[in-house]
Amino acid sequence: MDTTPEKRTARVSKRMDAGRPDNFRHEAGRCQMSRRMFLLTSGITTATVMVAMHAGTTLAKEVPGVVATYPRKLIGRLSELKQDEPLDFDYPDEGAYAESMVVKLGVDAGGGIGPDRDVVAFNYTCTHQGGPLAGTYKAETKSLGACPLHLSTYDLTRHGILISGQAYQSLPQILLELEGDNIFAVGVFGLIYGRYDNLQG
Ligand code: FES
Repeated sequence: MDTTPEKRTARVSKRMDAGRPDNFRHEAGRCQMSRRMFLLTSGITTATVMVAMHAGTTLAKEVPGVVATYPRKLIGRLSELKQDEPLDFDYPDEGAYAESMVVKLGVDAGGGIGPDRDVVAFNYTCTHQGGPLAGTYKAETKSLGACPLHLSTYDLTRHGILISGQAYQSLPQILLELEGDNIFAVGVFGLIYGRYDNLQG
């Protein structure tokens, strides 16, 4: 029989740890769950709660789900792209901040299409305060920038991640599909500056 609270706690923890992975081990009664596992578990919990809140209510039965559908737009032809020479287009509409570019980088890139996976497309509006990035492509670094307002620069080989400057969000990447020689824009990864929804029009 355990004689102190500490010994009783250690005995209970040992029993609870049987069969658990390392990141769920208990020590002196405290769960040693890693931060990563906590975030994963929290996300699952939140999603479950949200579903439970709406399930079975009158509102959930009467309001249809809203699914964003991007237009499929022909923006160029693979055979006509010249390496390091961006081609401009608007997407997903002709509205504010829709100016975008497609470019053949000449190096493998995240989200790249074509036989060399080097053709990518991005929105031209800086995510910091909306500075215009048209005309700032740099072939040497495969980047857009520096932004004329506060010098943010984005890496086009790595999904538009920030290289330097004031912004804290990546540049929205235009998702592409190749059909034969035709390049289609089919979606946007990331929120376009100045919009609360990429498809607000
Ligand atoms: S608007 Fe581009 S860095 Fe501020």
